[in-house]
Amino acid sequence: MRASLQRWRDDFRVLYRYVRPYRWVMAGLVLLMALVGATNAGMTYLIQWVMDTLIIRLDFRRLPVLAGTLLLIYAVRALAMYYSTAVSRSIGARVVHDVRRRLFSHVLEQPAPFFRRFPTGQLSSRMTHDGTVLQQGITEVFTDVVLEGFKALAVALYILWLHWRLALVALVAVPLLVVPVAVIGHRLRRVTEQFHGAVGDLTHGFHQVLQGLRVVQAYWGQARERRQLEQKTDRLLRLQHRWVFWNALHAPIVEVCLGIALFGLIVYGAYQIRRGDLTPGGFTSFVAAMLMVYTPLRRLSKLNDLLQQTATAAHRLEQVFLYDLRLPDPPTPVSLPTVRGDLRFESVYFWYPGKSTPALVGVNLSVAAGETVAIIGPSGAGKSTLAQLIPRLMDVTEGAVYLDGHDIRTLRLQDLRAYVGWVPQEVFLFEDTVFNNIAYGLLGVTEAEVVRAARQAHAHEFILQLPEGYQTVIGGETAGLSGGQAQRIALARALVRRPRVLVLDEVTSALDSESEAHIQTALAELKGTCTLLIISHRWSMLRLADRIVVMDKGRIIDEGTHEELLRRCALYRRLWRRQAVEAR
Ligand SMILES: Nc1ncnc2c1ncn2[C@@H]1O[C@H](COP(=O)(O)OP(=O)(O)O)[C@@H](O)[C@H]1O
Ligand SMILES: [Mg+2]
Repeated sequence: MRASLQRWRDDFRVLYRYVRPYRWVMAGLVLLMALVGATNAGMTYLIQWVMDTLIIRLDFRRLPVLAGTLLLIYAVRALAMYYSTAVSRSIGARVVHDVRRRLFSHVLEQPAPFFRRFPTGQLSSRMTHDGTVLQQGITEVFTDVVLEGFKALAVALYILWLHWRLALVALVAVPLLVVPVAVIGHRLRRVTEQFHGAVGDLTHGFHQVLQGLRVVQAYWGQARERRQLEQKTDRLLRLQHRWVFWNALHAPIVEVCLGIALFGLIVYGAYQIRRGDLTPGGFTSFVAAMLMVYTPLRRLSKLNDLLQQTATAAHRLEQVFLYDLRLPDPPTPVSLPTVRGDLRFESVYFWYPGKSTPALVGVNLSVAAGETVAIIGPSGAGKSTLAQLIPRLMDVTEGAVYLDGHDIRTLRLQDLRAYVGWVPQEVFLFEDTVFNNIAYGLLGVTEAEVVRAARQAHAHEFILQLPEGYQTVIGGETAGLSGGQAQRIALARALVRRPRVLVLDEVTSALDSESEAHIQTALAELKGTCTLLIISHRWSMLRLADRIVVMDKGRIIDEGTHEELLRRCALYRRLWRRQAVEAR
């Protein structure tokens, strides 16, 4: 009991946090709903009056008063219901609107480790599914719980006032109703839960198959996949049947119970009328009130479930907000009038959350402004991690990275990202024009600047050959472009900002030799104009470097020229020999 009270309180608290901005509107809403409840009692009272005065005594003198009152009650009720429904729906919609906006701005600022905890699929489902549940829940809490609660309360008070002994007799029917309804409700809930699980299972399975459809087809796995998916829908069908069964049982049981209760009421009521304790109108209005109280009670019985579901959704969203790995801007950022591009790593350590070994172990590296440095090492050595620390996509765990002698954490993040160009290994292009893909994130870029960057990246020629040149829309999955072309657009995107430091993470690892040659020429032309950090195994790239750095297991194990390393570094020799074999 204590535990469940505690849970209720927690659930309410979580929900309240979301609706807090609307608390005054909601207070007004509650008043309106109380008004609707009162009109319910008013209506049952009118029934009594109509029966006794109009029908039994055939006294029509007060007909105008009746008409007036009836109209008034209905007008008030209609208005109040209109506003309360409209407002409660709109609050629900607004709360979710707020949540989605908060979610966007929260997620858009998060560094990579955040998405280990909340993968993109999860985030989408939280935004759409949990958002919808929250919205419905808030709306329903109002319409079902508050509104129906008031309706039931008003009518209950009315019948107690009308004839409390009769009300007690009617109460006898409550356990008759409550027990079977509770049992069925419990069953239904269990089936519903299983059903949701099964739907998730099916969606997941279907998604997986679609993602791997080519592999499925190439290895002739359709029959196997079909069987698996069919099993899942079969289960869904079984659960649905079970649900239908229990749900259909609900109404007849309720009917029977109501019938029994009604019978008791009629007998006892008739007796009371005969004794003169109750008018026929009073009795009729009593029965009407009983029937009116039933719907609200049934809906109120959903309260617990509803609250739990809604609170679960709210909790799931709250978890995302509470997990905040955003990198804070310094309170008083250093502003650099000009940036040379001196880069220095000092005893840098980096741990990915949840990993037992660090990805970088005491890395020390200095790169002078304008220098070109190549980084080479087996996969998993920590090269990409190192690259991402420079634009502060992630922060060092220990140590520091310096740009022109300033710890990069003392700069404004936005400034830093303007100085540093980063071209990731996996190219990502937006579903937008070539122009907008290159100018991404910059306001008021001229065409000349975009073309200059595209020329520098050796992309201008092929862009002009696209159907609509720079205005050609390219796809999210580089549709219509070869990997090398996409890679050059990504390079142009970095170059249009005239970065002082340019970091290229294995941009040539999966390219055809022609694209590789283009990128190589582009970089050869760039060399010396900015600090260049090139992560690559390709000889074409290593050859450009003033200095080559060898990384292994998170450490820098050697650095020097190609000839020096070939002579003294066994790992370099191995990597070099392997790429030489591949190149042939
Ligand atoms: N997002 C991540 N979460 C956890 N561990 C990661 C993540 N990215 C990389 N790692 C780990 O960090 C180490 C270095 O990875 P990475 O910098 O990508 O190496 P490289 O680019 O040299 O292949 C590897 O052991 C890898 O498993
Ligand atoms: Mg890498």
